[in-house]
Amino acid sequence: MTKQPVQAAPDESVDMIIFGGGGDLAARKLLPALYMAHLHGNLPPETHIIAVGRKDWTIEQYRAFMEEQSRPFVEAKAFHKEAWDRFLALFQYVVIDVNVGRDYARLLEASRKDALRVFYLSTSPELFTTICDNLESAKLLDERSRVVLEKPLGHDLASAQEINESVGRHFAESQIYRIDHYLGKETVQNLMVLRFGNPIFGPLWQAPYIRSVQITVAETVGVGSRAGFYDHTGALRDMVQNHLLQLLCIVAMEPPVSLDPDAVRDEKLKVLRSLRPMTLADIARDTVRGQYGAGAVDGAPVKGYLEEDNVPPGSRNETFVALRAHINNWRWANVPFFLRTGKRMQTRQSEIVIEFADLPFSIFPSGPRNYGNRLVIQLQPEESIQLQMLAKEPGSGMNMLPVSLNLDLQQAIPERRAEAYERLLIDVIRGRLTHFMRRDELEAAWTWVEPILNGWDELGDRPRTYTSGTYGPAASSALLAREGMSWAEEA
Ligand code: BG6
Repeated sequence: MTKQPVQAAPDESVDMIIFGGGGDLAARKLLPALYMAHLHGNLPPETHIIAVGRKDWTIEQYRAFMEEQSRPFVEAKAFHKEAWDRFLALFQYVVIDVNVGRDYARLLEASRKDALRVFYLSTSPELFTTICDNLESAKLLDERSRVVLEKPLGHDLASAQEINESVGRHFAESQIYRIDHYLGKETVQNLMVLRFGNPIFGPLWQAPYIRSVQITVAETVGVGSRAGFYDHTGALRDMVQNHLLQLLCIVAMEPPVSLDPDAVRDEKLKVLRSLRPMTLADIARDTVRGQYGAGAVDGAPVKGYLEEDNVPPGSRNETFVALRAHINNWRWANVPFFLRTGKRMQTRQSEIVIEFADLPFSIFPSGPRNYGNRLVIQLQPEESIQLQMLAKEPGSGMNMLPVSLNLDLQQAIPERRAEAYERLLIDVIRGRLTHFMRRDELEAAWTWVEPILNGWDELGDRPRTYTSGTYGPAASSALLAREGMSWAEEA
């Protein structure tokens, strides 16, 4: 069991120390998220932010970097000059070569001895061990310190275990916050309320009442400037191993006994451990890899993956994956879970579709014969829930037509939704671990994913090219069509 961490009292002094402070993630996500938390009064008043980077900058230069690189990521309506200036004043910048032990003395000097120290490691994971070793040697750690680990946490099971081992030498599990930013999304957290707050779904949420589950995370963006990272990562490691499997866990888990971090994480772990391991034959039949070719997205022409900057010629890296998974337990026996994610797809859309079982027999003369109601949970870009059902077509006969019960959550509850990183950073400061991955969860996810990667190698599998602006290769539709099913947009 993970020990409950020492909760930071709301007014406790906090030093938020960001390694990789001059990096892309810090600029685009972390700093705008911290600004929003500051704007809404969610940072403890005694918060200092210490950006750590290699570049030999002064604090003025770092603030200029923030102006240039982070401010564009703050929504215009949330930008207030006075609040921004006060936010900039919270910062210090410390130059450290993370491999050089003596450099850490500067950090010791910059941070306060009595503050709760949060170390956010937004660097390449290969540096995590060195950073943690050096933090310890420089006497920067105590039992209240917390460490936040950015993904990717490893590229296979062994490397994930290695990271966990080395970080675990310096931090107890209750001090480690493994980020999967999907768990910070309001819409993803709302899934728990949908499932466990609404009694109507309880009895139906299982086989044989559910015929299939689809989880799609479709992006319109391409690889952009990230080919150096992405080309040896691919969609399975980048998206399925973490974000999609976490969504699957929330859809499939048993009700936890409470919202305590371990109660929730124990149930997710059980799902991950129940995933049926894929044999080579399963991999050949039940997985589809794709790579985007040239095409058009949002009406504008776009290059194919192989033409993108820094992609090696002839790369076999996948930018799309669709697969069929099974969960070997009583609740989900024989219910296929279809997972799909890709870049350069037709729309940016993340959704979960619960397809209920067919009518056993239809007494109506016309309309769909094999009809299963669908519950469509849209996670982004809009948050909505639709229940697709049949209604009588007006007129003299008893014909049926598909219609949809529609709930637009943004309209129903117009309050501001914090971005995932803002919510998660506040959780770290408050010591709330529920929406972070525990070590065993991460390793269980790798245990299921790694054989697929190895299987593709063994099969000499090449990704199929799909036209940018579509829903991926035709084989992805065939994966469902084989069983008389279809992806939501094809229904
Ligand atoms: C990241 C992946 O974890 O998630 C990116 O590394 C991907 O490749 C991103 O684009 C998607 O996140 P979101 O929040 O835009 O759906």
